[in-house]
Amino acid sequence: MSTVKKTKSTAKKPAVKKKAAAAAAPVAAQAVAVENGHDGAEGSGVRRRDFIHVAAVSFAGVGAAAVAMPLVSQMSASADVLALASIEVDVAAIQPGQSIKTSWRKQPVFIRNLTPAEVEEASKVDVGSLRDPQTLADRTKPGKENWLITLGVCTHLGCVPLGAAAGEVKGEYGGYFCPCHGSHYDTAARIRKGPAPLNLAVPEFAFISDTVVKIG
Ligand code: FES
Repeated sequence: MSTVKKTKSTAKKPAVKKKAAAAAAPVAAQAVAVENGHDGAEGSGVRRRDFIHVAAVSFAGVGAAAVAMPLVSQMSASADVLALASIEVDVAAIQPGQSIKTSWRKQPVFIRNLTPAEVEEASKVDVGSLRDPQTLADRTKPGKENWLITLGVCTHLGCVPLGAAAGEVKGEYGGYFCPCHGSHYDTAARIRKGPAPLNLAVPEFAFISDTVVKIG
């Protein structure tokens, strides 16, 4: 008896709701039928409520998917961002004693071809006396100790030090000089004087041929 009464009262619901439920029928009705073991087009008030509930969930699912797609799309790295993830630089034209500035992930990078004298100068330093103890070998690749590749970002407050371009001041230790607050880096770009706490950072890099280096 109670089942019949519920069916009658539900039949008086506004036509708008019926249309909404009917519109969702292809997906939702099948789900109700599977769940209840019945044809979802007829049934008790309980089944109709289930039907509306499933229809609402179905629409919510579609809405969530519609929102999620743009978000996923935005989270995917674009081609230009992926291109910036690593760079390849042919260093063949950089002569001993010369440096170039390039850019990687929107940060300046110094690539320096140390002279034999600069390599020797860097190698004879007592590492234990350094603020940030590292040997030149720690900061370069085996057999290519003359290629010093560092970020051009002072480790004090982030200024771009001088010394990579021709004619720029190299500081008291012949490497780089940050004029912002007076930090001096040596020929291995290690901090030797001034407020900077650390050596210029060495990014991940590898030589992929004798003269081409991949940074990143
Ligand atoms: S930012 Fe380089 S010394 Fe302060």
